[in-house]
Amino acid sequence: MVIGLMGFGTIGAGVYELARELPGLEVRHVLDIREIGIPELTHRAEDLWEDPEVDTVIEVMGGLHPAYEFVTSALQAGKNVVTANKYLVATYYDELLALAREKGVAFRCTAAVGGGIGWLTALERVRRLEPVLSVEGIMNGTTNYILTNMTQNGLSFEIALSEAQALGYAEADPSADIDGLDIMHKLLLSANIAFDVSLKKEEIPVFGIRNITDEDVRNFKEHSLTCKILGSARQQEGKVAAFVQPTLLAADSLTASVPTNFNLISYETAYTGKMSFYGQGAGRYPTAANVVQDCLDLAGGVQDFYSLQSAAAAVDNSIARYRYYLRTASLKRVTVAEEHWGNAVVTKAMTVTEMKKLYDELKGEDEKLFIAAIG
Ligand SMILES: NC(=O)c1ccc[n+]([C@@H]2O[C@H](COP(=O)([O-])OP(=O)(O)OC[C@H]3O[C@@H](n4cnc5c(N)ncnc54)[C@H](OP(=O)(O)O)[C@@H]3O)[C@@H](O)[C@H]2O)c1
Repeated sequence: MVIGLMGFGTIGAGVYELARELPGLEVRHVLDIREIGIPELTHRAEDLWEDPEVDTVIEVMGGLHPAYEFVTSALQAGKNVVTANKYLVATYYDELLALAREKGVAFRCTAAVGGGIGWLTALERVRRLEPVLSVEGIMNGTTNYILTNMTQNGLSFEIALSEAQALGYAEADPSADIDGLDIMHKLLLSANIAFDVSLKKEEIPVFGIRNITDEDVRNFKEHSLTCKILGSARQQEGKVAAFVQPTLLAADSLTASVPTNFNLISYETAYTGKMSFYGQGAGRYPTAANVVQDCLDLAGGVQDFYSLQSAAAAVDNSIARYRYYLRTASLKRVTVAEEHWGNAVVTKAMTVTEMKKLYDELKGEDEKLFIAAIG
């Protein structure tokens, strides 16, 4: 396999190092903006897809543009594409898959969800035999690190976030993590592959943790609950639900116990039951390892995407119901409260669709509003 590698950052450098160890894999060109001291370096993206001997292009630059244009050009030129870029794949899912199919090349993105865990290939494998009923889990290490630190060490959100930034877990602009968008992209890819559908990301409600306070966490502890932010999707009676929300779990449960920046993602099927996958959801070597594993799969004969159909499906969250912890300065407007927990309330059971509507109404009056489902 002759590879053109786009991006020589955290993951790209790891891919370069791991791939060079393997017989049968040659990294022919490396595209990067910077002057890096390797002989394969080019600043011309076209070098990768104009070389007839390159059969596979790896995209680990990140972002939407020019990653989208480069990946499209590579597919147009008949190259297989491997990427770790969930933002790209979740945004251009239908288009990129259709192009890969038209050109008869493979498109893989295993490292895009769960970094080192290899979760998408596990999903692909299980759904050959049995329908997947649900996918759910901790899909973002940065927010899990923040929530773990707040729960175990009583830190404020701001201090826990700045510690995550100091350790390199959170970016200077942490919005994609703390507002749940990174999880939404990973959930969309997981749900699409699990249920053989194509969801629209605008239809997936996302509740983040930007507004969680140490007082909220103390409230949860008093009720023996731990807060985690989960991506959840399920398929029931022909409907597909998908949403991202902070969720309160029994403090001694498996998911509540996931420490620091680790991920835990599960699927549930009719025959196998619930299976959970745990490990490093990010980091140079775990993520690069799954990029290289995708290449090895292609070298071994894989020629397509994980799921072959991907029919468009509308998100319908009326099939998912929770009681919600709700803290807002506009409590007077909340008519669904059943209990008071300190300065917050717990609502009666409501659908995720209903909560999204209420949340959007309250948000206009209270920017600091925080909600969490009681799982
Ligand atoms: N880091 C992780 O743990 C992790 C885990 C799972 C998935 N991913 C995904 O993997 C991808 C790469 O992440 P990363 O952490 O490796 O990012 P990174 O460290 O920022 O590396 C990206 C590299 O690509 C280069 N680049 C950006 N735009 C370019 C362009 N137009 N032409 C040529 N080179 C360009 C960057 O150069 P400059 O530095 O000069 O901009 C940088 O060297 C992202 O999609 C990310 O979501 C990362």
